[in-house]
This record gives sequence, C-alpha cells and structure tokens, in this order.
Amino acid sequence: MRKSFLPATAKAMAMTLALALPLLVPVAALAEGGPALPKVVEEWHAGNDVASIDSLQRGARNVINYCLPCHSMKYVRWSRMGEDLHIPMNLLVADLMPPDAKPGDYIESSLRAEDAVVWFGKQPPDLSLIARSRGTDKVYRFLKSFYDDPSRPAGSNNIILPAPAMPAVLSELEGVKAAVYKSEESVVDGKPVTVKVFDHFEKISGGQLSDEQFDAFVRDTVNFLDYAGEPAQVSRRSTGVWVVLFLLVLTWFAWMLKKEYWKDVH
Ligand code: HEC
Repeated sequence: MRKSFLPATAKAMAMTLALALPLLVPVAALAEGGPALPKVVEEWHAGNDVASIDSLQRGARNVINYCLPCHSMKYVRWSRMGEDLHIPMNLLVADLMPPDAKPGDYIESSLRAEDAVVWFGKQPPDLSLIARSRGTDKVYRFLKSFYDDPSRPAGSNNIILPAPAMPAVLSELEGVKAAVYKSEESVVDGKPVTVKVFDHFEKISGGQLSDEQFDAFVRDTVNFLDYAGEPAQVSRRSTGVWVVLFLLVLTWFAWMLKKEYWKDVH
C-alpha cells in the first residue's frame, strides 16, 4: 500500500500539470497581448531609475504640481515619502504638502469624487499602484501620447487610451501635437478596404520645455510612480549594498580562519 502511494501522487501531479499547461499558456499570452501598439510609441521606454534620489525628488514635485489636483496616492504617506526621498521635514511641509495636510497623512487629492464624476465623467484612478498595474513603459507612453483632437470635449485625445477622460494636462510643458495617419489596405469579410492607421505625431506648437526636457520630465514622473508602487525598493537597495559588503567581510574572515586552522594540518 505505502509503496504505491508516492508514484500515484506523482502521476496525479503530472496529469494535473499536463492538463493545466494548455490552459495556462493562452492566459499568459492574453496578459502579454492587447492591440498592437503603433511603432513610434512602442519604441518609447520609461528607462527610469528608482535608485536616483534626485530623479525621484523631481518626480515627486511633478506629481504634486501636475497630478495631485485630480489624482490621489492614498497608500503613500507624506512623511514616508520625505524620508525615502531624503527631503527635510521643513521643506516637505513648506514646499510640497498642501497647507491643510499633516506629515502622517496619506497623499490625497483635494478633488472630491462627486465633482470628478461631474467634470470628467469618472473618478481619476489612484496613482499609488498605477505603475505596478500598468507597467512603467505604459504610463510613460500614455503621458507622451496626448494629441490635439477638436472633436473631443477637452480638445485632446490619446493614442494609448483612446477618448480618455483625462485632459492633456502637460500640454503647456510639452506643446501640442497632431496625430498623422496613413492609409492601409486591409481585407474585411473578404472585401478590400482602406483603413486609416496612426503613423506618427507632428508638433503643432511648442511648450515651455524642449522635447528632451519633456522626456526627462515624464521619466522622473514615472520614476516617482514606480517608487510609490513599492516604496521599500528604495531602502531595500541601500540595505542590499550593506548586506553584500557584510557578506564580503564575513567571507574574508571565514577564509582567514580556515587558513589558520589548516596551517597545522599541512
Ligand atoms: C484634470 C484632472 C487630471 C489631472 C491633472 C491628471 N489626470 Fe490622470 N486621469 C484623469 C482622469 C479623469 C483619468 C481617467 C481616464 C480614463 O479612464 O478615461 C485619468 C487617468 C490616468 C491614468 C490611467 C490611464 C489608464 O491606462 O487607464 C494615468 C496613468 C494617469 N491618469 C496619470 C496621470 C499623471 C501622471 C498625471 C500628472 C502628470 C495626471 N494623470 C494628471 C484626470 C487627470
């Protein structure tokens, strides 16, 4: 009895795996998928670095000035952010926090949910976990993909999130872009049709920042959102350096000790 128990369990496990695998593969493919991105946009990558405290500080300022009017970050406390980003408490309170907020408070927008629904049709999502749920590249591309579209209520549209409820809030910095389309032949239901597909962006008017400066602005912003999604990653990195140093020193001691012990044996 006991003998046959293990092989039977192993067999059952193997069968479960064999049955589950074909199910798992399409799920993974779906998670990766979604409609193909236009080539110009697909080439954009956030390329942010959470180890750069300078970039995180700039990103925090960007988010507070340009995103906080509508979005909250309800899982991040002001004081925790100040500590992680090495911002002295007096600067945090004087320059970054709204006058009515306390350091122990979570970062919350003053926009009321009811007003958001009236003004934008929906509530702006909380940004604490957005970089984790969407991925940093997607947020970076979204912020750089707004374009002029007079047919929309706010006058702008977005290639990544068509007909967004969010207006092009960074256009004073970036300037305004138009979307340029090209015609492509396609076949729908066996009939040849010509479809308009997005090709590239064209700058209509400049903003306060150059293209490079705007890219850096968005990169810093996404960097801060990346940090917010997992604040521990910043302190973990510096702890990691100490752990590695400690292990190196320990190895050196162990090696010296081994030499000492084996001296008499040889
Ligand atoms: C004027 C209000 C407003 C401001 C300011 C604003 N947003 Fe939004 N944002 C919205 C609304 C409304 C939505 C919901 C869009 C939708 O689902 O159609 C949104 C959605 C988003 C999304 C989710 C997009 C998705 O993939 O679903 C991200 C990311 C985002 N905003 C980032 C930002 C960042 C970063 C800033 C600051 C640079 C910012 N927003 C400033 C109103 C705003």
